[in-house]
Amino acid sequence: MRDPENFWSEIAEEHFVWRKPWDKVLDWNFSTPEVKWFEGAQLNITENCIDRHLATKADKTAIIFEPNDPSEEAQHISYKQLHEKVCAFANVLKEQGIKKGDRVCIYLPMIPELAVSVLACARIGAIHSVVFAGFSATALATRINDCECNMVITSDGSFRGTKTIDLKGIVDEALENTPTIKSVLVVKRTDADINMKDGRDHWLQPLLEKASKECVIEIMDAEDPLFILYTSGSTGKPKGMLHTTAGYMVYSAYTFKNVFQYKEGDVYWCTADIGWITGHSYILYGPLANGATTIMFEGVPNHPDFGRFWEIIEKHKVNQFYTAPTAIRALAKEKLEFVENHDLSSLKVLGTVGEPINEEAWHWYNDNVGKKKSPIVDTWWQTETGGIMISPIPYATPTIPTYATLPLPGIQPALMDEHGKEIEGNQVDGRLCIKFPWPGMARTIWGDHKRYKETYFSAYENKYFTGDGALRDTVGYYRITGRVDDVIIVSGHNLGTAPIEDAINEHPAVAESAIVGFPHDVKGNALYGYVILKETGESRLHENLRKEINQIITEHIGPIAKLDKIQFTVGLPKTRSGKIMRRILRKIAHKDTDNLGDISTLLNPEVFKRS
Ligand code: PRX
Repeated sequence: MRDPENFWSEIAEEHFVWRKPWDKVLDWNFSTPEVKWFEGAQLNITENCIDRHLATKADKTAIIFEPNDPSEEAQHISYKQLHEKVCAFANVLKEQGIKKGDRVCIYLPMIPELAVSVLACARIGAIHSVVFAGFSATALATRINDCECNMVITSDGSFRGTKTIDLKGIVDEALENTPTIKSVLVVKRTDADINMKDGRDHWLQPLLEKASKECVIEIMDAEDPLFILYTSGSTGKPKGMLHTTAGYMVYSAYTFKNVFQYKEGDVYWCTADIGWITGHSYILYGPLANGATTIMFEGVPNHPDFGRFWEIIEKHKVNQFYTAPTAIRALAKEKLEFVENHDLSSLKVLGTVGEPINEEAWHWYNDNVGKKKSPIVDTWWQTETGGIMISPIPYATPTIPTYATLPLPGIQPALMDEHGKEIEGNQVDGRLCIKFPWPGMARTIWGDHKRYKETYFSAYENKYFTGDGALRDTVGYYRITGRVDDVIIVSGHNLGTAPIEDAINEHPAVAESAIVGFPHDVKGNALYGYVILKETGESRLHENLRKEINQIITEHIGPIAKLDKIQFTVGLPKTRSGKIMRRILRKIAHKDTDNLGDISTLLNPEVFKRS
């Protein structure tokens, strides 16, 4: 693209409401690194997502809430009602002392209050930090403390399939170690009997009833922070990716409209949780900025049976459906009647995201869900990119299974070789970088700009490094081959190996551990743990130890990080500088032990014979 700045400024000008225009479209430097889009402009994202639609779409449904239990009625929230709800919630936040720039942690299930609280923060300029409500108390506390949140918004509990989860109990445990939290707002959802701490905890409903349904927007600068969202790194604590207001808005809205080809009157459904970036960009901000109807689903794909997704598509006549390969693989294992019993003829576009989709799953999705007439958009992007980067445009880009195909306009990918040189031409593979800024990119890691620079801008000069490997085929299509760092994607969730190893090492019997991924037919990857026990002479049952290790992981991170396989061993292969050679551990986990490659730098090759 010859003039990306002009391209983005035209999109920004044409499709959004600004309180003040920008002075400069883009200012950037990938070595500092610093990126600013639409500097000088002023706006509020909720005015763009809600208020401006009121003139023409006040009664149009903004959000359809589909509850966990199919016998509970779905809610249709119009743009007018959403406006009232967001304003009332924003007023409650203000009454509780929350002001522009404060961090608010949101730990809620997929209920309307989650959407409303996110937008309420954005309306008053508070920075939301949504934490997926499947994370443990320890993981929640780490995230609260990292960005020093003043408030937590949670619920008495959550419904997931047949289970009821004690969310408030988890919050109470987390808040034992979070000095900055002053108040907790609690949504009533399950009616569970919970503890309310005097002076700290408040039921939300009575406060909302008293609050005014009008709340003027806070005028935000283009580069004012909008939200923090944590993502796993290969080492250390999770990274609080910071997204700012104008660029993120423009990018999420523009990509939503183009990748899903949303047309007025369509009903769009993304099955992600708002606790992840996919939910932020493609359940909330992207669709609402386009005045779309977006579905929020509280439940799980197998409750009350494996036909639930297809039942919802039929019920709400969904036109665009966006899900993860892991869900497709899980559903493809079940009887085809679950799909065939439902009328899916409303579908026009199918999407996938979060991990590479294998060919078999792609065909199952294409044949049985799309009936070979709805194009599949295999969308590649990251928490850090804010929005979709590489994807087919439905009906325009011919698709090939497992290929994310082409970069969206304005996106400039590069493949790099191991010497740091860009690989030109086609039919090549390398490490995926982006050469030029785009409006949706994260601007920093909260409180740690040095880590931001080191993680994303140091591997290759003047380029953003994604952490992924990719190949480019003969026609220039990209296929993402997976992570090239120590992040493992399990069921579409990014998991860093180091935090899991740290958790395991907390077990009193464990001396050392190492985690690698191995292929799993539903999860994509599962976790394989090598564990060295301390030589205490204690003879404990290994089965119990396995359970205890997974229990510790559940407590420190959450059940998503549990290990599928645990191998007790007496040593780990290490280089002379003491680095664990994961390449070799991966091969053993993949059962490819005949082909361990070069092990000449191994400090302790004897571990193979003994383990
Ligand atoms: O490895 C890539 C994989 O997911 C990573 C980003 O994860 P996260 O920040 O959690 O965001 C997920 C939702 C955007 C990437 O670095 N990934 C994402 N989409 C794809 C993918 N891998 C292959 N194909 C995709 N379509």
